[in-house]
Amino acid sequence: MKIITAKDKKEAGRICADMFEEVIREKEDALLGLATGSTPIGLYDCLSEDYSRGRISMAGVHTINLDEYVGLGRDHEQSFGYFMDEHLFSRVNIPAGNIMLLNGLSDPRKEIEIYESFLAQNRIDILILGIGNNGHIGFNEPEPVFRTRTHLVDLTPETIEANARFFTSADEVPKKALTMGMGGICAARKICLAAFGAGKADAISRMLRDDTVDPMLPCSVLKLCSDVTVIIDQDLKDHMR
Ligand code: F6R
Repeated sequence: MKIITAKDKKEAGRICADMFEEVIREKEDALLGLATGSTPIGLYDCLSEDYSRGRISMAGVHTINLDEYVGLGRDHEQSFGYFMDEHLFSRVNIPAGNIMLLNGLSDPRKEIEIYESFLAQNRIDILILGIGNNGHIGFNEPEPVFRTRTHLVDLTPETIEANARFFTSADEVPKKALTMGMGGICAARKICLAAFGAGKADAISRMLRDDTVDPMLPCSVLKLCSDVTVIIDQDLKDHMR
C-alpha cells in the first residue's frame, strides 16, 4: 500500500486525476470504478477541466459505480446517479451506453444479477474509493463477515447520520442501499482510496496500524489488494494516532 499526503483536497484531486488519466491514455476503453460523496469531487472536477481543455478524451471509457440508495431514482437530487450526472457525466464525453449504475427504483435482485454478471466478465481498471468514518467502502458496512457479491445493505446509524447533511433531516435518508461487494472492489487492477479530514483519521490509523484484515473495519480488506494508493490530506495526517 502506497501512502501519499497531499496538502489539501484540491491537490489530492489532482493526484487522483493524474492516476486516472494515465490509465485512460494507456487503455482508451478502460473501465473506471466510481464513487460518490464529497471525496471524489476534486477528481471529477479535474477530469472535467482536462476534458474541456482537450487534454483527455473519455469517448471510449466505460464506468461502473459502487453503490446507490434503494428507493431513489436517477432523477432524485440525492441519488448517486444524479450526483454522477451533475459532477461528471454531463461534463465529459463518456457515451451514455458505457455508464453502469445501480437503479434504486428497480428490483434489487435484478440489479444484483446485472451487476454480478457484468463484474464476472469485466475487471475494473482503476477505482476511486472514499471511506466512511466507520471504515466502510462503497456501502460495505462493518459487520462480522465480508460480502463478496453485490448486495443489499441496511445502512448503519453512523452512515445515516453522516449522510443526513445532504437531506433535510436524517429521517429522509434511505435506510437501505445496494453496494458492490468486496469481490468486485478487490478485483480492481488499481485502487485509489482518498480520505480527508479529522473524521476519517481513526479509520485510516486503524487500517495502517498493523497487518490484520477485519470485517468490522471494511477498508482493511484493501491490504489484500495488489495496487492500492491511499491519498490523505494534511489535516487527516495531523489527527492520526
Ligand atoms: C459513495 C461511497 C461511500 C463514500 C463514503 C465517504 O459512493 O462509496 O463509501 O465514499 O461514505 O463519503 P464522503 O466522501 O462524502 O465523505
